[in-house]
Amino acid sequence: MMEDFSIEALRCIVGERGVITDEADLAPFCTDWRGMFKGRARCAVLPRCTAEVAAVVRLCAAARVPIVPHGGNTGLSGGATPDASGEQVILSLSRMSAIRSLDVIGETMEVEAGCILQVAQEAAADAGLLLPITLAAEGSARIGGILSTNAGGTNVLRYGMARGRVLGLEVVTADGSIVSGLRQLRKDNAGYDWKQLFIGTEGTLGIITAAVLQLAPKSRQRVTALLAVPSADEALAVLRLARQAIGETLNAFELMSGPALELVARHVGLTTPLAPAPWYVLLEASSSLPSLRDAVEEMLADVLERGAASDGVIAESEKQERELWHLRESITEAEAREGRSIKHDVSVPIALIPAFLRVADEAVMNAFPLARINAFGHAGDGNIHYNVIIPPDADSQALNRLVHDLVVDHGGSISAEHGIGQYRVDELHRCRSAPELELARRIKLALDPAGLMNPGKVLPQTIVTG
Ligand code: FAD
Ligand code: MLT
Ligand code: ZN
Repeated sequence: MMEDFSIEALRCIVGERGVITDEADLAPFCTDWRGMFKGRARCAVLPRCTAEVAAVVRLCAAARVPIVPHGGNTGLSGGATPDASGEQVILSLSRMSAIRSLDVIGETMEVEAGCILQVAQEAAADAGLLLPITLAAEGSARIGGILSTNAGGTNVLRYGMARGRVLGLEVVTADGSIVSGLRQLRKDNAGYDWKQLFIGTEGTLGIITAAVLQLAPKSRQRVTALLAVPSADEALAVLRLARQAIGETLNAFELMSGPALELVARHVGLTTPLAPAPWYVLLEASSSLPSLRDAVEEMLADVLERGAASDGVIAESEKQERELWHLRESITEAEAREGRSIKHDVSVPIALIPAFLRVADEAVMNAFPLARINAFGHAGDGNIHYNVIIPPDADSQALNRLVHDLVVDHGGSISAEHGIGQYRVDELHRCRSAPELELARRIKLALDPAGLMNPGKVLPQTIVTG
């Protein structure tokens, strides 16, 4: 039987200050970081602990009120933005931000979902350890959002996606049950590894309330270098040489096009210390062995001698290192200031990156002569942000289809790290096979039969409602 829903009942659970209904205060919860998606909500509710999350979910479930989980709101696919109905409740984890414990022997940390990534990184660093999830939004993104999107970022080459850091998880399921698997175990094959269902599913199967994360040793030496390269093919030649020379120390291998850095110069005022080039590679290596810098210098000399790079610089200080990284991390912000950009967060097998770029550039420019391509990304793991700046009246759906078809032709994925959210629901259903979609439908129906967990995200709501 459907029960009544009231804001008063929510306030009884989370306290007076835990429910936001005022339109102005609610507005930031109802639009995404880029201002691309806008919706309406009944309210935002901010529980203080897992028991309160569970009570809120039970209340909403009894009244058939849909829930949109909300982290730092830096997602780039509209996953945390409610729909236009005004019926949904936004559940923000921002008041659950504690680092519950840190174990230096096991190199683990138990952290609540609302903890900001950078705060968790700093706590690990204070203990002489590393939380190796790094992305430009780390000052705002929260652990629950990071895990729900299975975020990538710049260290995936060495440390893997966010999923790979999770040893244990605590979740609230769609019926309001608390399921805790907050174990610190590297090895745990006892039954289904159910936590994987909640990682990367963007709040559509339940709410992540806490996690045990695997940390890593913090390296004593770190070397960062920027290289100018004549082509994407040569960038891969550099990758190959770097993997051979310093492979296990390589944290990041980022590719940036000349036009991407022109945007950064124009909107953020940062310029590269190298002469203008078609492409740039930013690489970072770290190790506790004192010989790291010598090895990187030797590798760089080899790369220049072979002509794979035309110029290069190694950061001489932490300040220079920050400056080089700042170039890379400012691209998203610069792109947002430039105008209407259509994001394609794609991955292809690494060896096919140059071929994909060639074919895609030609196809996009033929179909959209006024387009400007802003290509950059985590080339070391095959993830290219093939973002296209187009005039306001250009057909973005046609552009998406064109790029995604080429991605599929190259054996790639239409979302490498940003997820599907509401942005790519149609494209996912166009590009994935029927048996894969049917399996997803069965998982959704098993865990959220009433379709109240972030409806319309990742999967079309019609798979639940018929
Ligand atoms: P939100 O945006 O609040 O939410 C994201 C999704 O997770 C939504 O579907 C939401 O409903 C769900 N969710 C949030 N919290 C929970 C929870 N506790 N339980 C269940 N579901 C939940 N992403 C990358 O992967 N790599 C990058 O390099 C990268 N760079 C970025 C750079 C910039 C400048 C910006 C603005 C974004 C970037 N992103 C990147 C995207 C974004 O930072 C990530 O997707 C991040 O993981 C989102 O975290 P959040 O806390 O902001 O989540
Ligand atoms: C990044 O790597 O900076 C972001 O994930 C890319 C983007 O904003 O498209
Ligand atoms: Zn990225």
